[in-house]
Amino acid sequence: MAHAPLLAAPAFTPLAQEARAGLAGGGQKSLPCKYLYDEAGTLLFEAICALPEYGLSHADQRLLQAHAAEIAAGCGPRTAVVELGSGSARKTRPLLEALAARQATVYIPIEISPQAIEHSRRGLEGITGLQFRPLEAEYREGLAAVAELRRAGRLGAERLLVLFLGSTLGNFAPPQATEFLRSLRRDLRPGDRMLLGVDLAKPARQLRLAYDDPAGVTAAFNLNLLARLNREMGTDFNLRQWRHQVKCDRRGRWVEMHLRARRAQTVRVPGLPRPVSFRRGETIWTESSHKFARKAIAPLLAGAGFRPLRQWADTLWPFAETLAQAE
Ligand code: AVI
Repeated sequence: MAHAPLLAAPAFTPLAQEARAGLAGGGQKSLPCKYLYDEAGTLLFEAICALPEYGLSHADQRLLQAHAAEIAAGCGPRTAVVELGSGSARKTRPLLEALAARQATVYIPIEISPQAIEHSRRGLEGITGLQFRPLEAEYREGLAAVAELRRAGRLGAERLLVLFLGSTLGNFAPPQATEFLRSLRRDLRPGDRMLLGVDLAKPARQLRLAYDDPAGVTAAFNLNLLARLNREMGTDFNLRQWRHQVKCDRRGRWVEMHLRARRAQTVRVPGLPRPVSFRRGETIWTESSHKFARKAIAPLLAGAGFRPLRQWADTLWPFAETLAQAE
């Protein structure tokens, strides 16, 4: 008997299960920020990175461009580059060019978004000596898989340089950020390196504009999450009844994105026994971005088993790149 291929039921995908968990119950509703990045979300994030108000990615790019040669020169022979969340890899390109000019280089972007992998493939076309070996996975699982390949002698490299750029570490709550760095360290060997790019605390006004830009690109990025739930799990959010809201610490140490109900409403959430009610003004918390004190980065890395080697800070936008070595 012929069998039709198995389809994942939309109500039982990880997205649907996590969305239900975040939307049910009486407390603060929330959705995991990793689901902001479907195809439309990935493109909107690319557009955010080009905004003048979102200085973070420009600073990251400037620092990588300025210090690529030095970072590459410090990498031993047979170093593979593993990037956690590559996006379009535009900012990584100068570093990969500098490395590939010295030695044949394996580059492994780890991404949960196949669209982002495709963008990075296109963004890196034409670099001689670069081998592109993407992994569609969550960061931890992806790095564990790379470590396993190395153990089995199937990586074609002995050393790893892990790139964790764009202040993605700031999307973890501080205790989870430390735990995450520790878990990365467990998959590394002494002598492996990590380049960590994080956004620094800055005036609240500057922070607010970066996450609530006048062109409304960040608002579209945030609202797309509800559109994605409608498309992929069959919720019936009316996007006109929601707006983007940013909550910002007065001392510029964190910023949160929320979606705020313009009026009281109910939303059908497949898999829940009854529609979810929202009060007027109630919010769904979709992302936190924590900002760092420059002097706190070295102790954070040291506490996770890394010895900081160099640190560079941007002069135009408070942002720091720290190169560290696994001990
Ligand atoms: C990916 N991440 C570091 C970005 C941030 O700044 O937290 C995502 C983002 N959210 C709104 N704008 C950009």
